[in-house]
Amino acid sequence: MTRPPAELGIDLMSGAFFGGDPYPAFDWMRRHEPVFLDEANGLWALAAYRDVKSASTDTATFSNAGGVRPRFPPLPMMIDFDAPEHVRRRRLVSSGFTPARVRAMEDHVRRICDDVIDRVCELGSCDFVTDIAAPLPLAVIGDMLGVDPDDRADLLRWSEDMLRSQGVMTDEAVTGAMRAFAEYTEYMEPVLEARRRTGSSDDLVGILVHAEIDGDRLDRDSLIHETLLILVGGDETTRHVMSGGMEVLLGHRDQLERLRRDRTLLAGAVEEMLRWVSPIKNMVRTVTTDTRIGDRELKAGDEVLLLYPSANRDADVFDEPDRFDITRSPNPHLAFGFGAHFCLGNQLARLELRVMLDRLLTRLPDLDLAGPGPFPRRQANFITGIESMPVTFTPTSP
Ligand code: HEM
Repeated sequence: MTRPPAELGIDLMSGAFFGGDPYPAFDWMRRHEPVFLDEANGLWALAAYRDVKSASTDTATFSNAGGVRPRFPPLPMMIDFDAPEHVRRRRLVSSGFTPARVRAMEDHVRRICDDVIDRVCELGSCDFVTDIAAPLPLAVIGDMLGVDPDDRADLLRWSEDMLRSQGVMTDEAVTGAMRAFAEYTEYMEPVLEARRRTGSSDDLVGILVHAEIDGDRLDRDSLIHETLLILVGGDETTRHVMSGGMEVLLGHRDQLERLRRDRTLLAGAVEEMLRWVSPIKNMVRTVTTDTRIGDRELKAGDEVLLLYPSANRDADVFDEPDRFDITRSPNPHLAFGFGAHFCLGNQLARLELRVMLDRLLTRLPDLDLAGPGPFPRRQANFITGIESMPVTFTPTSP
């Protein structure tokens, strides 16, 4: 095995590694050790596009049932199950995410985007993350779950505190995550009870409460975790693509101008933003049976990280992968994963990103960074992105 240079700082458990600039390390892995063993943590990682894709497809050998976070037990939510339980659970809510259902939400999403912009447009400056990128997915997913708009700030705080602890094992981070989970559970109990009482299935929480799987209802723990998966999956990820995508667009003025003039390029721009940012840094699979990838032998029980951002910069698949290009075609990125667990919310995220970008180009046409980067990024080993990005624009009325 070729050992990586120490300065690459490869540590697959570390929030600082994923939250910093892991791309030089990914590049090294793809060239030298695409099936990489992090000996200190006892974890494998797949860095090449072809391996991430084939492990995602081969669910018999690469199982989700051991959980999707490294060294962390599985939780009662769809992503931590294999078929057939995975399929049953996913089906309960998948009707809320079909392309037709999502298309029908476009006007609603546009209204939320305009509300978000209305709140800052007279100010001439704001924090892009806190004021623009974060509120949109939170409002969309909060409405789908059926939570009171007044409670959104709490949901945001809990989901942030839970994710902040991923890869940062300080007492403060761990206590913060535990407290956030306890508060979320306490908040959800009466919400679940209210759906039980009214019999309402008008929103995703109601659908989950009343859903029957082979005559059984989901238990309390499952309801808490399934709703949490949808909340965190929908909220943190989309926000990071919005902010990281805007940062890279503002650094490529020619492409920004093309986009402003020709909105038919929006969908392609969103795909490139997804490839570029890849906010989910990895998911874990557990090897079920001794298996070989390339010249590496993996043993049953080993944990393997699928490195999506690395796969998305693989030169075997993407021409000049380190070039940001809103007209890249084809763009078969793996930011939403691949195979049985392919992101349930992918159409919704794409819609939110396209509509918000469109509204920003129209309503805040000279939006720009208030100062040079780099901007602080969340130091976490799971979902990371920019935490704060001050911007300015010419004030307008709502
Ligand atoms: C830019 C935004 C998003 C990104 C990059 C993203 C990425 C991902 C990835 C990488 C996976 C794992 C796929 C795999 O293992 O193959 C996933 C699964 C999932 N995502 Fe997303 N996601 C996003 C937005 C959303 C939204 C908006 C929702 C819901 C409102 C959502 C809900 C889910 C759920 C429920 C799963 C689990 C699916 C399963 O296990 O079958 N995601 N997502």
